Amino acid sequence: MPTHEHYMQRAIELAERAVGNTSPNPLVGAVIVRDDAIVAEGWHKQAGEAHAEVDAINNATANGYSTEDATIYVSLEPCSHQGKTPPCTNAILNAGFSKLVYATSDTNTKARGGAEILRAAGIEVVGGICEEQARQVNRFFFHYQAYSTPYVIAKFASSLDGRTATRNGDSQWITGPESRQYGHLARQAVDAIIVGAQTAIADQPQLTVRNPDAHPYSDPAHPIRIVLDSSGRVPLSNSLFNQSLPGNTIVVSTNAMPEKHAHKLAELNIEVIKLPCSPKANNQTNAETKNYPDVKLLLKELGQRGMQSVLVEGGNTVVGNFLDHALINEVWAFIAPVLIGGNDASPSVGGLGFETLALAPRLTNVSVEYLNNDILVKGRIANDSTAEFNRVFK
Ligand SMILES: NC(=O)c1ccc[n+]([C@@H]2O[C@H](COP(=O)([O-])OP(=O)(O)OC[C@H]3O[C@@H](n4cnc5c(N)ncnc54)[C@H](OP(=O)(O)O)[C@@H]3O)[C@@H](O)[C@H]2O)c1
Repeated sequence: MPTHEHYMQRAIELAERAVGNTSPNPLVGAVIVRDDAIVAEGWHKQAGEAHAEVDAINNATANGYSTEDATIYVSLEPCSHQGKTPPCTNAILNAGFSKLVYATSDTNTKARGGAEILRAAGIEVVGGICEEQARQVNRFFFHYQAYSTPYVIAKFASSLDGRTATRNGDSQWITGPESRQYGHLARQAVDAIIVGAQTAIADQPQLTVRNPDAHPYSDPAHPIRIVLDSSGRVPLSNSLFNQSLPGNTIVVSTNAMPEKHAHKLAELNIEVIKLPCSPKANNQTNAETKNYPDVKLLLKELGQRGMQSVLVEGGNTVVGNFLDHALINEVWAFIAPVLIGGNDASPSVGGLGFETLALAPRLTNVSVEYLNNDILVKGRIANDSTAEFNRVFK
């Protein structure tokens, strides 16, 4: 007889189909089981659309299966509140299920408590099945619930010796097509992509998701593009200001940007957010201060706009600034088997860096994947400096 884990794995797989499409809602999948067989499946496809439980119930009904006395497996505790759609607890009660199995509790203060409501109504409830995996799938959502700021992924492509460009600035392409294609999965997953002024100027990027494997619900306007440009030096002719791009570009700047430039950007429907300059990085004692917009305040601002995740795509100066401020939660490092060398060649991560190894964050939950000849190392920031910093910052 299949185990709870077997059915929950399927519910989690279904949840992941909508990666990048449900924010600010979590990714959720559901399966309905009768007589040891799955009779219906569902998942939450987009904010505002049916929740996974309701989608699965509708599919069961459409296929002529009764839900009376069946078991429903859900990758997140069913919601108990009226949001854009009615509470899932009502749908589960009305459908007559005798058992609910869920992976992890909902931490959203408005929506949580569904399991207790259903238990009190006489349904058998089992929680915590494949919990770690389910929390990983919704790590942006849980991080946002805890800190009200977006979860930050830093992504970079480097040579085996940790360079992202040659000493003359030649940087395209270090990694192979498989790695670059894979990078689009990160773009698809997040609410916004951040690059520095120098990358915008040097690479003329589009920062769009160009992934042939994108699911059919993908919104072409997603994600938002953000360029950090303290003084407005990225020209109006830059690729990121091209009017034919889907969705929005935001320029994050300081008072050093001339008003005239800000007006010209506004005429192109490009929003400018002016922030105070960064104070000293919190973990450095004799840090050189730069007049960059404060990335901590930026995350706070993006959090207030409901953004739950950002991808910092470079270059090394920007990634370094996020690291110096202990704001990186996860790293995607694409490493190609090529040696660039040279003391003047850009490293993957710039900024001030750490004075001792004891301070340098080590990754946890590390995974290694092979993408043809390249290696992708993914992991989460191990020490609790990020969590601690976000708490203080909040
Ligand atoms: N291999 C890779 O994964 C990868 C990815 C991206 C880029 N690249 C390459 O990296 C090179 C550019 O990297 P880079 O390090 O020179 O420049 P960068 O990180 O793209 O941009 C740095 C500039 O952004 C501005 N900025 C504004 N706010 C900032 C903040 N809070 N923190 C840091 N910078 C901020 C600063 O210029 P202002 O003071 O004028 O505002 C700063 O000089 C390009 O050659 C590009 O091709 C490689």
